Amino acid sequence: MRILSGIKPSGSIHIGNYLGMIKPMVQSQSRGELFCFIANLHSLTTMFDGKMMAQYTHDAILDLVALGIDTEKSIFWVQSDVPEVAELTWYLSNVTPVGLLERCHAYKDAVSKNIPANSGLFSYPVLMAADILMYQSNLVPVGRDQKQHIEVTRDIAIKFNGTYGEVFTLPEPEIREEIAIIPGTDGQKMSKSYGNTIEIFAKEKQIRKKIMGIVTDTTPVEAPKDPDNSTIYQLYKMFASPDQALEMEKKFRAGGYGYGDAKKELFGAVWEHFRPFREKREELENNKDYIDQIRKQGAMKAREVAQVTIDKVRGLIGVS
Ligand code: ADP
Ligand code: TRP
Repeated sequence: MRILSGIKPSGSIHIGNYLGMIKPMVQSQSRGELFCFIANLHSLTTMFDGKMMAQYTHDAILDLVALGIDTEKSIFWVQSDVPEVAELTWYLSNVTPVGLLERCHAYKDAVSKNIPANSGLFSYPVLMAADILMYQSNLVPVGRDQKQHIEVTRDIAIKFNGTYGEVFTLPEPEIREEIAIIPGTDGQKMSKSYGNTIEIFAKEKQIRKKIMGIVTDTTPVEAPKDPDNSTIYQLYKMFASPDQALEMEKKFRAGGYGYGDAKKELFGAVWEHFRPFREKREELENNKDYIDQIRKQGAMKAREVAQVTIDKVRGLIGVS
């Protein structure tokens, strides 16, 4: 079974990205053949600083390898290193009805907010379809926000197969409904757009500051507190052992335990949890040649698979 997943390079990854996406992706390596890539071409629809783009892409390679993507087990590459994907996007565009793309949320949202949409943003789902279909993926694990894009991918594949002949595997989405929405420092969903994130590879001082800044209510220290209503406890549970979580829960309920103390414990748990990943990342950071090699080898492996598909497609549509 081929499992495919793409992640946009977006600067610093936060606890929500890690628990909601990266950790499940790393775990899929033991379920099937993982195809995992950094979707830098998709970022171009909204990012217009070339230096930053290159830096974010490099950082994303470091992040994912440090967090457990195993380049021996999985095919891991940067989207733009397989130029055939842009070519396939064009071929797919010609069997994609405009109306299908007009109904897509990301584009509709931009229009409704009066954000001038470029045609890249409009065709974003076609590029995503090319990513998925190029590698003949069976399963695509995504967050709920991406479900529609997988449906569009299936529609495009059906249309293409019907027009030219069976070439594409129809992918199934795997929606990560069961994964909790991780709260940010203000209690809302943790998201870069809300400025409430805790970055996992930030400096110790910054992470501490973010955690100590978690918004709490004004319940006095002596009073009992409800752990289920506390962002601190919700986050602590994700990183502490069951025994440690139970202990914090009891302290919340007993009273005489301040939010400041709970935040310090949370900081300790987060800092320790990411220690081995941080050490691995520091090691990788000092080994640019190794990262370049990972990137090259990943591109080679991905291109080999892509070329089989693109050759078939070129033949079918009559351009080869
Ligand atoms: P952001 O909202 O910070 O811009 P993205 O939309 O780039 O994050 O997130 C990439 C993926 O990370 C999402 O598809 C989702 O699966 C996961 N993710 C992001 N934030 C959270 C969160 N707070 N809880 C759970 N998963 C999250
Ligand atoms: N659009 C996805 C996101 O914003 C990233 C992505 C690009 C992707 N191509 C993909 C995800 C193919 C799964 C499969 O998160």
